[in-house]
Amino acid sequence: MAKEIKTIGVLTSGGDAPGMNAAIRAVVREGIAKGLKVKGIKRGYAGLLAEEIEDMSVRSVSDIIQRGGTILQTARCREFMTSEGQKKGAQICEKHGIDGIIVIGGDGSFQGAQKLAALGINTIGVPGTIDLDIACTDYTIGFDTAVNTAMEAIDKIRDTSTSHERCSIVEVMGRGAGYIALWCGIANGAENILLPEKYDHDEQKLIDNIIECRKRGKQHHIIINAEGIGDSINMAKRIEAATGVETRATILGYLQRGGNPTCKDRVYASTMGCYAVDLLCQGKSNRVVAYRHGEYVDYDIDEALAMQKEISEYQYEISKNLAI
Ligand code: ADP
Ligand code: F6P
Repeated sequence: MAKEIKTIGVLTSGGDAPGMNAAIRAVVREGIAKGLKVKGIKRGYAGLLAEEIEDMSVRSVSDIIQRGGTILQTARCREFMTSEGQKKGAQICEKHGIDGIIVIGGDGSFQGAQKLAALGINTIGVPGTIDLDIACTDYTIGFDTAVNTAMEAIDKIRDTSTSHERCSIVEVMGRGAGYIALWCGIANGAENILLPEKYDHDEQKLIDNIIECRKRGKQHHIIINAEGIGDSINMAKRIEAATGVETRATILGYLQRGGNPTCKDRVYASTMGCYAVDLLCQGKSNRVVAYRHGEYVDYDIDEALAMQKEISEYQYEISKNLAI
């Protein structure tokens, strides 16, 4: 028989993402509306192990839906990667009467949730990462805001790049995933998009392309470089030396992780937060909330973590034609 859930916890883990606050608010309010007690766990799994746990009320999540970051803070926690740390975490949940936990984070955080589920704490994952690199879902909290922030910044870089007839390398976030780079590449009309999943490291091809574009009368040349490719500053120096075209690199960095969430991030995060609570109320555990083919769905975490995500071949191919 499914365990009756009376008290739930919510935490944010891994890199923060705009919209996490909307998800926390949804968990708290949906939980309270369903007659549950809701506890906020600060600083991800680190806060769980340190027992940084506080009661949440409908008012404790007032005025946060529009704010970036996470009011619960986030952290990375090595101790929780050990079986001792995980057992301690489950014992702390029991001590505080927490029957179920909602973990808002990425794949790493879901692995932690999986471990807690195996130790008898009902867990539900909600996908939160600006990188969009969670295979089971077409949407992750924060991607929409981050990609719009990056797009607006790159528009500004393009203005000055055109005025000075320069080549601009813009490094966007995505250590292992090129989604922000690909989307900005298309949205900003970049001449080249370098993705960790695709780049062949043939810099000569890039150099030839810049020279060719100049001959065709292009006044700027935008290269979007995903963080996972790295080396943007030195790449700019090498490209300038080889092409004679003044080249500058800009690393957008953490500004992409902050800021007010877009309407899409607020609405999807709110819906996913409520969905996660509803799963717990149904006695479900070891599930992750996802958005797939236009619908909110859920998957077994083990199944979700085993899925592979590929960059859209079609979008990548058309991005090259669009840059002619
Ligand atoms: P994300 O959730 O964004 O992928 P990380 O990979 O940094 O971020 O993971 C966040 C936290 O989740 C880690 O610091 C750790 O506490 C926990 N975690 C990650 N992998 C595991 C694992 N294999 N087992 C238990 N906990 C894990
Ligand atoms: O949030 C995702 C992400 O921004 C990745 O693109 C990046 O590699 C990583 O987080 C960097 O985060 P931190 O510097 O906080 O470890």
